[in-house]
Amino acid sequence: MNFIRNVTNRDIEEASRALIDGNLVAFPTETVYGLGADATNQAAVNRMYEVKGRPKNHPVIVHVSSFEKIKEWAVEIPATALELGKKYWPGPLTLVLKRSKIARDFITGGQDSVAIRVPNHPVALSLIRKFEEFGGSGLIAPSANLFGKVSPTRAEDVMEDLENHLHSDDFVLNGGECEFGIESTIVNCISPKLEILRSGLITKKQLSSFLDSIGISDFVSTSSSNNKIKFPGNLKQHYAPRTKVVVNQEPNEGDGLISLIYNTTRPGVIRLESPTSLNEFAKVLYRGFRKGDRMAVKRIVVQISPNDDLSYAIINRAYLASGGG
Ligand code: TXA
Ligand code: MG
Repeated sequence: MNFIRNVTNRDIEEASRALIDGNLVAFPTETVYGLGADATNQAAVNRMYEVKGRPKNHPVIVHVSSFEKIKEWAVEIPATALELGKKYWPGPLTLVLKRSKIARDFITGGQDSVAIRVPNHPVALSLIRKFEEFGGSGLIAPSANLFGKVSPTRAEDVMEDLENHLHSDDFVLNGGECEFGIESTIVNCISPKLEILRSGLITKKQLSSFLDSIGISDFVSTSSSNNKIKFPGNLKQHYAPRTKVVVNQEPNEGDGLISLIYNTTRPGVIRLESPTSLNEFAKVLYRGFRKGDRMAVKRIVVQISPNDDLSYAIINRAYLASGGG
C-alpha cells in the first residue's frame, strides 16, 4: 500500500488511476476519512466490503465532485433536494434520492435509492475531479475503518485499522486531521416529508430554518425506529471502541474522560480530550475513543449536556458507542 504523507498533484493522478484500475484509495474528507472505490466497479466495491468486513446489504454513499453530477446518479430529484444540494455542497450533507440506472444493487444494498454527497476537502475534491476526468462517475467512500469500529479522523487511524488489509496498489492519502470529526448528516429526500436518517454537523434546526427561509414547508422530521430503510446507524451498537463507553455518568479512578475543558477532572481520572466548544467536541470525540483504547482506561466517560442542537449529534454517536442505541 502507498502511504502518501504530503499529497501532490502527481499523487492525486496516480491515486485516481489506481481507482480507475479497481483499487482502493483511503482519503480525507471534512467529516471522517473515507475508503474510496469506483462506484460502478462491482469487483472494487466487493473488495471494499471485504476489507472493512462490512455486511453486503449495507448501502454506501456515492461521492461526486459537484452538484451537477447528482443527475448522473439520481432521477426524479425533488426541488427541495436541489435546494439543499445548492446550499450545503460541498459539505457534510448526504442526500438519499431515487437511484438512476448506474446506481446498481451492489452499492445500494438492493434498494431503489442512492445516497450522494459532495465532500468539502481539497484532497477529496481533487481526487474525485481527476477520477472523473479519467472517465469515472463517482466514488463510494464508507468511513475507512473496520465495520462497527470508530470512524477514522486521521490517516494514522486508517493505518491502524486497514494497513494489513490493503494491498500494494492501494493508497492511503494523508490530509491531516478531519475538521468536523463525525459523519455527514443524512437526509432522506424520497419520503413525502424530509427525514433525517443520521444526525450530524448540519442540524435539524439549521435545515428547518433554511427550508423555511426559501418558503419550503416540507417538515424535517427525525427518522422513526421502525424505518424500513437499511443503514448501519440503525444497528444497536456501532462506532464503538473496544473500551466500554458510558454517557453522563460520574467517572471513577482509572476511567478516561471526554468533556468540555471547563469541567473538572477528579483525581485518578484520565483526561482523554478537553474540547473548548461543541464543534471541537465533535472533532475530537473519535480521537478520544481511540486514545482510550490505546491507554487501556477502564471506561470512557463522555460528559455532555443536551442543551444545544449540535450536542444531539455528539450524544447520538456516544450512545451508539455505549451500545445504548
Ligand atoms: O461523512 C460521511 O458520510 C463519511 C465520509 C467518508 O463521506 N462516509 C460515511 O459512510 O459515513 P458510511 O458508509 O460509513 O455510512 C454511510 C451511511 C450508512 O449509514 C448507510 O446505511 C447510509 O449512509 N446509506 C447509504 N445509502 C443509503 C440509502 N440508499 N438509503 C439510506 N441510507 C443509506
Ligand atoms: Mg461508517
